[in-house]
Amino acid sequence: MKQKVLIAIVLCLLTLPGIASAKWIKDIMTYEGGGMGKVEYSHFNHLETLGKNCPTCHSPQGGKDRIFNIVRAKNPPMTMADMEAGKACGACHNGDRAFSVAEDEGNCSICHQEE
Ligand code: HEC
Ligand code: HEC
Ligand code: HEC
Repeated sequence: MKQKVLIAIVLCLLTLPGIASAKWIKDIMTYEGGGMGKVEYSHFNHLETLGKNCPTCHSPQGGKDRIFNIVRAKNPPMTMADMEAGKACGACHNGDRAFSVAEDEGNCSICHQEE
């Protein structure tokens, strides 16, 4: 509970200019990628595209807007099946908000570094 309040305060502070430039957060999150080559997720590229709005992915309220917990250990392992069902990266990478993760779309190598 305490932690949720703290996260809420931090996320509110981030709306202040300066702090909102967000350069203090880690840019690249690297994933092993399940034999398809590493996946690199870039915070900075996403903030550039989506606007510097942390709750887009890290809503402290939970529920459907909570795509990723900022405590990484709390996020379940990501599978393509879950993403195709709209979880994690698949919340946006569905061919609607952003290029799709779906099997038949052939976008694998935009995220994965090997074919
Ligand atoms: C487009 C989605 C998205 C947005 C917007 C976003 N993040 Fe993240 N964030 C992620 C992902 C993905 C991870 C990694 C989650 C994982 O691997 O478990 C992450 C992880 C983090 C972590 C943990 C980093 C670590 O090394 O442990 C912090 C802190 C964080 N984000 C802060 C922020 C802040 C602050 C903002 C706003 C300026 C923000 N994020 C905006 C997707 C996003
Ligand atoms: C809140 C929505 C959202 C989430 C969640 C999200 N993305 Fe994106 N992503 C976008 C948008 C929007 C673009 C740019 C539009 C496009 O290319 O279709 C983008 C672009 C990208 C790009 C191309 C630009 C670059 O940085 O190289 C990659 C790669 C990418 N996303 C990977 C990921 C991965 C991996 C995850 C999960 C860890 C993820 N995204 C989660 C919305 C999101
Ligand atoms: C939006 C980015 C994105 C796209 C597009 C994408 N993946 Fe992934 N994929 C990921 C991420 C992130 C993981 C999690 C990696 C990890 O935790 O090591 C993953 C994991 C995997 C895994 C291991 C887990 C599992 O579900 O078996 C395989 C295999 C995989 N991807 C294959 C593919 C194939 C094939 C495609 C194209 C049809 C594809 N991916 C498209 C981001 C993406």
